[in-house]
Amino acid sequence: MKIAVLPGDGIGPEIVGEAIRVLDVLRKEGEPIEIERAHLGGAAHDAEGHPYPPSTQALARAADAILLGAVGGPKYDTLPRAMRPEQGILAIRKDLGLFANLRPAMLYPELASASTLKPEVVAGLDLMIIRELTGDIYFGQPRGRRTNKQGEDEGFDTMLYARSEIERIARVGFDTAMKRGKKLCSVDKANVLDTSILWREVVTGLAGDYPDVQLSHMYVDNAAMQLIRAPKQFDVIVTGNIFGDILSDEASMLAGSIGMLPSASLDVKNKGLYEPIHGSAPDIAGTDKANPLATILSLAMMFRYTFSRADIAARIEVAVRSVLAAGLRTADIAAPGERTVGTTGMGDAVVAALRE
Ligand code: IPM
Ligand code: MG
Repeated sequence: MKIAVLPGDGIGPEIVGEAIRVLDVLRKEGEPIEIERAHLGGAAHDAEGHPYPPSTQALARAADAILLGAVGGPKYDTLPRAMRPEQGILAIRKDLGLFANLRPAMLYPELASASTLKPEVVAGLDLMIIRELTGDIYFGQPRGRRTNKQGEDEGFDTMLYARSEIERIARVGFDTAMKRGKKLCSVDKANVLDTSILWREVVTGLAGDYPDVQLSHMYVDNAAMQLIRAPKQFDVIVTGNIFGDILSDEASMLAGSIGMLPSASLDVKNKGLYEPIHGSAPDIAGTDKANPLATILSLAMMFRYTFSRADIAARIEVAVRSVLAAGLRTADIAAPGERTVGTTGMGDAVVAALRE
């Protein structure tokens, strides 16, 4: 199991450090885990002059799986766009063909009070957002800046999906639904966008191959509302890149804290990049405040999806559950007045629970 580790920027190195301690426990037990580190994002720009430098590209291509912390920070805000940390993420997704982004949103019962929504609305929440990750307006051409006939500046982007791109992500959606509650909601904007009309047509056309899955369609604006109104109506959501970007941030708040949620970005062979869905939180970087659980849970996803080791995945998840049940809380998931632990304190507890 060759794992490329890309700590990135801000809190990235701290949270990834705790995940590596989890890997060390497994390695000492005899699991054939190999780890190699490289830079991505701002750290890569600092060290090698590019957010996705050739050294990182070579390592990422050779690895079976990639663990990423987070990228970005105010220090890099003034760089030209091609050199910004976010371009590192977009480039590695595209380079490795990581088209399927799995973003679960579940609320651990222990954290029901951490959500800003009423406990009865979110208790027991368990939904999976499948976001297409290598197409759409993020990558569509043409894009750019120009001057129009009136002499005014314009910025423009192209929303675009080919039938094959829709089909392969839709199949991930159907397959995922088959393994879960057999309900798939496809989210689009087919009342306005041509891209979405094709999207809906293709998704509908596949439904016959999955007779056991109950398929529905929803416009993205309504989906944004329904996620807050009645999130438990959803099992699996499948959607395009930009809608998925927005809806998955929204869904993360149902789960109490963005500090809890892992993600997987998979290619056609289930090689994957695993990362917490939160950002690099430069405001708390280096202060031992960040919650490492989303990164540790990303490792669980890595063992489940890339290494087909559901046993290890479950062990990591059980360890996380047990530290939550024991009352350990980083600041982001603590109720007012509750005692908190830091990043390393939380890591200590997970490592101890794993060894039990
Ligand atoms: C995400 C992030 C990225 C995205 C940024 C950092 C480019 O918001 O992974 O959701 O927009 O995809
Ligand atoms: Mg996002």
